[in-house]
Amino acid sequence: MALIEWSDKMSVGVDSIDDQHKKLVNMINALNDALRGGEAEEVLVKIFDGLAVYTQKHFQYEEKLFAEHGYPLAAEHKAEHDALIAQVVELKTKLDAGSALIGIELMKFLKGWLTNHILKSDMAYSAHLRGRKVA
Ligand SMILES: [Fe+2]
Ligand SMILES: [Fe+2]
Repeated sequence: MALIEWSDKMSVGVDSIDDQHKKLVNMINALNDALRGGEAEEVLVKIFDGLAVYTQKHFQYEEKLFAEHGYPLAAEHKAEHDALIAQVVELKTKLDAGSALIGIELMKFLKGWLTNHILKSDMAYSAHLRGRKVA
């Protein structure tokens, strides 16, 4: 079973963003599957790196839309993105140094940050962007 199941309650009503969120869900699920399948740590770290890069691209996409459409909570939202990226960078440093391994705790963390961020902070811009006909 997938670690995260996409459901309609995760939809922010903006197709391009939903597609990116689904991709993030798929990437976290793929990492979880690889972990459970006993893949080597270096394979897991490669998947993690891909997730980190795509997350950054996704955050930039949202922030560009905030700027284009005058989203009033843009600064707070960007601060949350920055804090999440800082956590991922710190994790990456530990993984590279061998002082952390990809395991169940890390998967719980990734699942938590993605779903909480989508359900609270991302959902908060839904009405504003939909009101501006962003798709
Ligand atoms: Fe998002
Ligand atoms: Fe966001």
